[in-house]
Amino acid sequence: MDIKSIDKIVSLCKRRGFIFQSSEVYGGLASTWDYGHLGVELKRKLKNEWWQNIVTSRDNVVGMDAAILMHPKVWEASGHVENFNDPLVDNKDTKKRYRLDHLLEGQKPEVVESLTNAIFKDNPPEFASEEDHIVILTQHLNDLGETGGSLLKDSGVRDPHSGAVGNWTNPRQFNLMFQTHIGPTQDSSSIAYLRPETAQGIFVNFANVQITSRQKLPFGIAQMGKSFRNEITTGNFLFRTREFEQMELEFFVHLEDTKKWLEYWSNERLEWFKSLGITPEKLRLRAHGGDELAHYSSACYDVEYQFPFGWSELEGIADRGTFDLDQHNAHADKKQSYFDPQQNKHIVPAVVESSAGVDRAFLTVLVDAYREEEVNGEKRVLLKLAPKLAPITCAVFPLMNKGEQVEKAELLVKEVRREFSGFIDTGGSIGKRYRRQDEAGTPYGITVDHQTMEDDTVTIRDRDTMEQERISIDSILDQLRSRISAT
Ligand code: GAP
Repeated sequence: MDIKSIDKIVSLCKRRGFIFQSSEVYGGLASTWDYGHLGVELKRKLKNEWWQNIVTSRDNVVGMDAAILMHPKVWEASGHVENFNDPLVDNKDTKKRYRLDHLLEGQKPEVVESLTNAIFKDNPPEFASEEDHIVILTQHLNDLGETGGSLLKDSGVRDPHSGAVGNWTNPRQFNLMFQTHIGPTQDSSSIAYLRPETAQGIFVNFANVQITSRQKLPFGIAQMGKSFRNEITTGNFLFRTREFEQMELEFFVHLEDTKKWLEYWSNERLEWFKSLGITPEKLRLRAHGGDELAHYSSACYDVEYQFPFGWSELEGIADRGTFDLDQHNAHADKKQSYFDPQQNKHIVPAVVESSAGVDRAFLTVLVDAYREEEVNGEKRVLLKLAPKLAPITCAVFPLMNKGEQVEKAELLVKEVRREFSGFIDTGGSIGKRYRRQDEAGTPYGITVDHQTMEDDTVTIRDRDTMEQERISIDSILDQLRSRISAT
């Protein structure tokens, strides 16, 4: 799949009702997307898979759902007011603004080399990886202050918009939190933030949840919900947006056990993505280099997927130590701790976090499922979605678009809907109807024809093989169950 294929997915998403651009009738709001009737089903199924895997199937993880607006002191304590910044630069010629590390990632190797030599005067440090190299350059350019902009220009850093070497400003820090005001007055005392992560809602409720759920270490608290970041550079469709949904687990452990649980959750989370039917060879775990770690973390793995635009992060699994609870204990009036029966004293537990983006997982599933095939000289586009994620499990097609076949099809789809999602499609030729459902990722199609009216049999078509089998109407639910469990 080449880089242009993201455009093909955007267009399929619009055509079939997965995703629309937000506020499209007003010309759209950049990098903001709305989920349509198929998109919302797929997203809901993804989230259900996560909740089932993380919460429902385990006796040592419980869920919660915190408010998006929180006390502003939460974000001072968490370090987000001070540290949740991205470095940005502007090109004074084109008036385009970029996140510095993203700008550098897109430069030719010789430009990166020239910049490296200019900063380190021909004595560069060892770089663990390309990512590490960019992170270190970005940090140094930030620290350079006044001369950063001219170094970028002199090293030939080009503006992706114009393709020409940019007339760059010095890098400066930009806080990613969206600010709002609570109540009618708009002064510094009324400032509130839209949460940039769901995790803090869990940390400030640690004691509430632990005491009421009577969980003992090690145990986890999970939640999913919207987060907001005023990202400087967005893009690649759903990959980086300003409003997105997270699925986060904070797993509380004894401090000496963090390494073990970091390994455990990293592997669990990689396996979870594989269980969604995503190509295993396109998934990997990558350990963060020391320079890439967030302000709260001492070790971190990313689950990454090989997108058409390169290997990119789907989720971070991080050792947050006791940082968050310590910070809240230092800032808040009410202290939080855990009474450890083994040690017979109160302790502050450490945390291993798993933090995934719903929209990124959604994009991954779509990109991985997208296929173009040639069938009898015609192009067939299909989404090979895992049946458990497909928005519609089974479509029913009466060959005739009125009369007794339609009545039979209506009864059938009602039967399908007792356990699965079903849809009846009477419009257009049968070939057209198959193509529409292939693009929607519907794994099974049932055709009601004249023979059905004689012997109560139908054909069931498999989306991937396009093979058809004639089966008895009575066995439809059994057929769907056994076909789905075989995938
Ligand atoms: N609580 C830790 C935390 O929020 P993060 O690495 O900043 O860590 C976790 O974010 C995950 O949230 C990412 O791996 C990604 O899947 C998703 N995410 C973060 N920023 C995003 C954005 N701007 N657009 C879409 N998803 C995003």
